[in-house]
Amino acid sequence: MPRASTRAPFPFLVADAQHRPSDDPIFALNAEAQRRARAGESVVNATLGALMQDDGMLAVMPCVSEVLRAVEPRRAAAYAPIAGEPGFLSAVIGDLFGNGELASWSLAAATPGGTGALHHAIVNFLEPGDALLTTEFHWGPYQTLAEHTRRRVETFRMFGRDARFDADAFHGAVQRQIATQKRALILLNSPCHNPTGYSLDSAEWDEVVRVVRAAAERAPVALLVDHAYAKFGGARANEWVEHVAPLVGEALLLVAWTASKSFTQYGARVGALVAVHPDADERRRVTNALSFSCRGTWSNCNHAGMLAISSLLNDATLRARADRERDVLRAVLDERVRAFNAAASGAGLAYPRYEGGFFVSVFTPAPEKTAARMRELGVFVVPISGAVRVALCSTPARDVPRLVQALAYGLEAAGK
Ligand SMILES: Cc1ncc(COP(=O)(O)O)c(C=O)c1O
Repeated sequence: MPRASTRAPFPFLVADAQHRPSDDPIFALNAEAQRRARAGESVVNATLGALMQDDGMLAVMPCVSEVLRAVEPRRAAAYAPIAGEPGFLSAVIGDLFGNGELASWSLAAATPGGTGALHHAIVNFLEPGDALLTTEFHWGPYQTLAEHTRRRVETFRMFGRDARFDADAFHGAVQRQIATQKRALILLNSPCHNPTGYSLDSAEWDEVVRVVRAAAERAPVALLVDHAYAKFGGARANEWVEHVAPLVGEALLLVAWTASKSFTQYGARVGALVAVHPDADERRRVTNALSFSCRGTWSNCNHAGMLAISSLLNDATLRARADRERDVLRAVLDERVRAFNAAASGAGLAYPRYEGGFFVSVFTPAPEKTAARMRELGVFVVPISGAVRVALCSTPARDVPRLVQALAYGLEAAGK
């Protein structure tokens, strides 16, 4: 057996990679919650970003597993086209825009989930060193993706004094970016924003459009709608489309589409980046750039996953079945949301308008302290800057009163 040398003469990792944090902090908290539960403690684990049934098992849509199993083995085993299965890409575009004008101006590239779509947007619409722009509360991996691709993240205040989307802060931030980096890539996650749960309403989308339009007169601006939770946003979840439609052509509209949440199929890694522009030459350039990025990263995506999801989107019967199965899951989630709103308003918690979705954030001046105090009571939430994130997607309605009590206790500890 060769003797291992303990000598470490050279750093093998390049400088940037030497001090990366290890486990995602959310997974670390989840591991602690699971360890304590296994040891026999009664635990409420509101940390995870996946929809769980009330019995703690992962919620899945049976039709998705069935259709995945039915994919013809040789088709599944073959390489998919670099930019994705054409039938899958058109199904995603149809899912977003039906068959109207926006659909005819759309192109798409397949990506591993919404994460891959965000990656392609960052590397193709920002120069190295540039910053993407998003809300101060945002999904942590935006930062990882930006750093990993040698870009940065800049943020603007998300909520104004009226607890609504702060369009003035947004306007100021975009204009500053246009002045400094001469382009902007804006990431807005709505409906059901992670981590706050906020969904922009019609008036707020109109404000967004006003701000983007003004910026797009001065420089190339790409507005990316992070659509991760859209199918849990209720009846008005798609209203944003009619609001942003007039922007198309002035700004580049991008959508990060994913099957992870909408088909409760996180593991198959099925997603797409959709871009909308009326000019065919622009579309051709963007198509080529995205295809090049696919080849230069993951080469091509999960073939079986794409074929299965396209059947679920294209076949009317399967689509109706998927909608019904999702409705059942959404009803479970909506019950938790109602329970939370009812208990939290009585407990004096400060949190944004919450109409549905996987998460809500409760504001606190000392997030770490609040979360640590809650853990003493066996209740796990994720501390983030300025708040703790509460995953109702993994909390049964029966546990919501205990969760809210723990939040109130944790906030007391934080001096609120
Ligand atoms: C806001 C947001 N965007 C995008 C994603 C991407 O998820 P996936 O890559 O699984 O589609 C997530 C997943 O948690 C998310 O919360």
